Amino acid sequence: MTTPDAGSAHRADGPIRQRAAALLAQMTLEEKIGQMSQVNGGESYIHDYLADGLRAGRVGSVLNEVDVDTVNELQRIAVEESRLGIPLLIGRDVIHGFRTVLPIPLGQAASWNPELVTRCARVAAREAAAAGVNWTFAPMIDIARDPRWGRIAESPGEDPYLASVLAVAHVRGFQGDDLGEPGSIAACAKHFAGYGAAESGRDYATANVPENELRNVYLPPFRAAVDAGVATLMTSFSEVDGVPATANEFLLRDLLRDEWGFEGVVVSDWDSIRQLSIHGLTPDDCESAFEAARAGVDMEMHGDAYLCHLAELVEEGVIDIEAVDEAVTRILTVKFRLGLFQNPYTDPGAFPPVADDEALATARLAAVQSAVLLKNDHGALPLEPARIGSLAVIGPLADAPHDQLGTWIFDGDEKLSVTPLQAIRELAGDRFEVHYVRAMETSRSRDTSGFDEAVAAAAEADATVLFLGEEAILSGEAHSRADIGLPGAQAELVARVRSTGKPVIAVILAGRPLTLSDIVEQVDAILYAWHPGTMAGPALADLLFGVESPSGKLPASFPRMVGQVPIHYNHKNTGKPPSPETVVHIDDIDPSAPQLSLGMTAFHLDAGYTPLFPFGHGLSYTTFDYQNIRTDVTEFAAGESVTVSVDVANTGDRPAGEVVQLYVRDLVGNVTRPVRELKGFRRLRLEPAERTSVSFVLRAADLAFYGRDMRLRTEPGEFHAWIGGSSVTELGTAFRLVPGA
Ligand code: NOJ
Repeated sequence: MTTPDAGSAHRADGPIRQRAAALLAQMTLEEKIGQMSQVNGGESYIHDYLADGLRAGRVGSVLNEVDVDTVNELQRIAVEESRLGIPLLIGRDVIHGFRTVLPIPLGQAASWNPELVTRCARVAAREAAAAGVNWTFAPMIDIARDPRWGRIAESPGEDPYLASVLAVAHVRGFQGDDLGEPGSIAACAKHFAGYGAAESGRDYATANVPENELRNVYLPPFRAAVDAGVATLMTSFSEVDGVPATANEFLLRDLLRDEWGFEGVVVSDWDSIRQLSIHGLTPDDCESAFEAARAGVDMEMHGDAYLCHLAELVEEGVIDIEAVDEAVTRILTVKFRLGLFQNPYTDPGAFPPVADDEALATARLAAVQSAVLLKNDHGALPLEPARIGSLAVIGPLADAPHDQLGTWIFDGDEKLSVTPLQAIRELAGDRFEVHYVRAMETSRSRDTSGFDEAVAAAAEADATVLFLGEEAILSGEAHSRADIGLPGAQAELVARVRSTGKPVIAVILAGRPLTLSDIVEQVDAILYAWHPGTMAGPALADLLFGVESPSGKLPASFPRMVGQVPIHYNHKNTGKPPSPETVVHIDDIDPSAPQLSLGMTAFHLDAGYTPLFPFGHGLSYTTFDYQNIRTDVTEFAAGESVTVSVDVANTGDRPAGEVVQLYVRDLVGNVTRPVRELKGFRRLRLEPAERTSVSFVLRAADLAFYGRDMRLRTEPGEFHAWIGGSSVTELGTAFRLVPGA
């Protein structure tokens, strides 16, 4: 299936084009370069240099100022005291909420619910707009296949199709139907491109992505965002194949402008133009300004390479004035589309209050639908209040109002947080006792002195819920980890609590897939909550006690151990694919065995070849039965379609949500194709015994890929298709794409 296309909203209509051209015609070179410069604010105070810059037309945008009175004053100075009165773009990282914090983007991705993701972005946009913010640096749509990378928390995960659908959902939520309507803000798809491929998941590190992989894996979400009308794009900090993204003409000009026709604004990342010389691409800031301008960066985020050097580059004829004019036109166009020339000011009273019912209900629903039930032995969950006399609630993240919010929450209000402990106490009322032991000061603590009390509480209780994981500070930008197990002494805490012999439930709050091999056999159930945001508590209490059934599905594979990384479901087959028969475990190697006896396929001696939990995995309190996968035709040609259908039934005794997933394999290709690719999904809710059939329509274009010539192609041939509740479903069928007439 192709991703939804909201048209080409990054393009200006006729009247805006004319107004932008008329304004441009009045501008001096300095004023033009001013529009291309973004300055940091953020102190609820306007420094003289900033006010002077605004008056002189040297500032096109301010980032990080969210005090609405200060924002209005910034706009007033720009509009009333500068020669041309051009209003400002006010940028901010509104990544997963403003005051109300929704689940981290990786968590939202686990909901596989684009409509809900749109609602989340809308809540964030509305609250941010009430503070005068008109531009968010989101969505981050970098494909992330390395959970060591701290920024996987901000990403949609490992899959190009899921990421593309969610990119569109985010853009729709932030930008609404019309950028000019109240509560809409400009979105920014970032980081263009390949940032998620940082070597060893070390943030900012070099990315080496062959063009074919770039096109087939990393670029589709950006293309989807562009087609959905995203107003702006941000370059990435890292270099891609030897050329930093901020100076990468291939990416920014050949691909984005010429091939895709993007007419929106490209902004650098923070100071990434001047960093071109640190990369070793340029000797100085002047050359950096040249490289970035030539590549097509319209606005410099923080840093003054453009301000200091672009004029001389234009005057010397090294950079064409036409290139500057194009950049400024794009920036003015966004300002016109946002309605800033009609009204640059924000009246917070015209917006609903922050954290209103809609915001909190959305945050709660998103936290419910993003949680993934990884394991649930013997129906350990849900807990039944009637059967519990007392519950032990243990762990550093049970009552951590800040840490449940996750990364990138500059404006998140932790006073709004309802923690799991608070919500469980409320749910318990006087029906059962809750005994809380924090046991560890932080998730990183190595001090085990609180463990005896935790063990005693668990021993006395009928069941224990452990709230484990990572604090907010352990993921996000520049927060990569080489060891992605539970930090500190948490695994030991689990083992100690396990020794009581009582049922143990682990709820994990984290910004990335963690390696859980240490604890997976020690607990009866694992509910993976990511960083769920403001409403973590009520959402998790509802899930633990069965008011809601878990329905999240993994947007990224969970490795057994870090050495397997990168491990993703949509890998290539290799010439020596592994199978259960060929895998040999290190403990089973016969000391006298010759080298050639070890299976000779692509696996690790100590980890096999499968993840601990695969992409798309997620259990429920009910069971779903998939049957009767079928296609309407066995062959189809370009211009036609094939419909792949399946019957799904809720065979348990609870109503519950399920995400039905369609995977396809193209058996032979001009470049080799992944062993499986997600091509469609549908979230549905079924009552007990309810049965339905779900159909996916595939057209030839949905099976297209970039070949050796880097052109999009569809190739006749045989395809396998599978439908089920995870990427390892075995319920399959096949069809053929035949040459057209
Ligand atoms: C650097 C980050 O890479 C980018 O994602 C963010 O938008 C900017 N800083 C602004 O805070």
